[in-house]
Amino acid sequence: MKIKNICCIGAGYVGGPTMAIIAQKSPEITVTVVDINEKRIAAWNDEDVNNIPIYEPGLADVVAEARGRNLFFSTDVDKAIDEADMIFISVNTPTKTYGIGKGMAADLKYIELCARQIARVAKTDKIVVEKSTLPVRTAEALKNILDNTGNGVNFQILSNPEFLAEGTAVSDLHKPDRVLIGGDLDTDEGKEAIQALVDVYAHWVTKDNILTTNVWSSELSKLTANAFLAQRVSSINALSELCEQTGADIKEVAKAIGMDSRIGPKFLQASVGFGGSCFQKDILNLVYIAKSFGLNEVADYWEQVIIMNDHQKRRFAAKMVKTLYNTVSGKKIALLGWAFKKDTNDTRESAAIYVADYLLIEQAELVIYDPKVNKEQILADLDCLGTRSEEENRANITVVNNAMDAANDAHAIAIMTEWDEFKALDWEQVYNDMLKPAFLFDGRRLLDRHELEAIGFEFYAIGS
Ligand code: NAD
Ligand code: UGA
Repeated sequence: MKIKNICCIGAGYVGGPTMAIIAQKSPEITVTVVDINEKRIAAWNDEDVNNIPIYEPGLADVVAEARGRNLFFSTDVDKAIDEADMIFISVNTPTKTYGIGKGMAADLKYIELCARQIARVAKTDKIVVEKSTLPVRTAEALKNILDNTGNGVNFQILSNPEFLAEGTAVSDLHKPDRVLIGGDLDTDEGKEAIQALVDVYAHWVTKDNILTTNVWSSELSKLTANAFLAQRVSSINALSELCEQTGADIKEVAKAIGMDSRIGPKFLQASVGFGGSCFQKDILNLVYIAKSFGLNEVADYWEQVIIMNDHQKRRFAAKMVKTLYNTVSGKKIALLGWAFKKDTNDTRESAAIYVADYLLIEQAELVIYDPKVNKEQILADLDCLGTRSEEENRANITVVNNAMDAANDAHAIAIMTEWDEFKALDWEQVYNDMLKPAFLFDGRRLLDRHELEAIGFEFYAIGS
């Protein structure tokens, strides 16, 4: 079976980039990305391709190449479902904020709505692909909904989790370590559906890098991959605190252990804590699933990764307060970076939000700068926490358009995101503009201690 028409429901950080690459690499397949968010779709269709809603290095060029040729963005979900022979579901699966599993389980209401809409609209056989990250055995529920409310058409369900990381999405998609496809390996129809999706990826991914498994292994592998990655960050962050007590340096420790080929060098960068929309959500989901099977030791083991991460964010803010003579009340503190990592405009679960919140509770006055995040988003992130009123947030936060402005008369600066431009700042000028003593807190191990201390800064870096 040859796929000619793909629909993707959800034009977010996953749906947008993944479909742009499929369209770029498969000119004979029509790819339509749909979303109920009209503003988002309008931005994807903006004449100036630099205004697409997601900032990812290289993405605008890919969209410019394929958009209008075989890549389309639309709010007409029914039409795109009707015309497609393969439908990707890339909608959000946030942590539940209500009812059973509140604060842990994945909220599957958006997934279910998609399934019901596909069931209602589809008049021809479809392959439905889970692209969103889902709890193991979700495909079973999807199949039930599709088979019981459909118009007598056949659905094959595949799991094809996405492993791209934000900030490097285009290169991750162009050269994935692996593409994982889970399907029904026991039936001819199942194998045919798997092959159809393998053929889509085979446009640019070598066969050796396309892995096929049963659906449940595929679903669980995605949660497991994120849990392992986050666990490495929490492990190195746990030891960063011990380094600070003992005179060891976490960068040197990371290098020393990372050279062991069994451990490897990646994901050993100590930080103020991991953020992003997925690590915390997916681990909480894993913990919830383990608990629901009565596997309490398994649940506790993985929950510790989150507990450590929360501790790291709190401890960074507490270190700032303690260093600034135990009070930041009325002091001007500049936060450089708001995105959860460099090269993205995504701020979901960014450590900066929580550090800012702790400092605001201590009555600090914050000046914030991020190269890709605007004032509206920063204020919205803090308003969402509900710690204080919108008026209070606006009274105590200034958002500026460049890092130098943030430094003016500041008591302290904290590096929250590892943007390259912070490395290249004129730190002598920054020092001159600040109140003395000038405190600099590096939450990302971005800067060189010797250089900054030579300028005159009181310098603290996580893990040293
Ligand atoms: P997102 O919030 O950026 O995008 C989801 C989009 O789906 C939104 O624009 C929303 O309006 C739309 N949507 C929701 N319900 C809809 C419906 N019924 N019909 C049409 N559109 C609908 O989310 P995201 O970051 O792209 O993540 C999507 C999924 O992919 C999640 O399950 C996430 O865990 C997973 N994932 C994300 C990343 C990442 O880097 N962000 C990486 C791998 C996997
Ligand atoms: C992560 C995974 O890396 C992707 O494979 C996965 O597809 C994605 O989650 C997802 O499912 O959403 P992402 O969150 O975009 O990708 O970015 P990462 O590079 O993993 O960084 C996550 C957080 O950990 C960031 O805040 C980053 O600064 C932090 N981090 C990462 C560290 O503090 N230290 C490190 O060594 C690595």
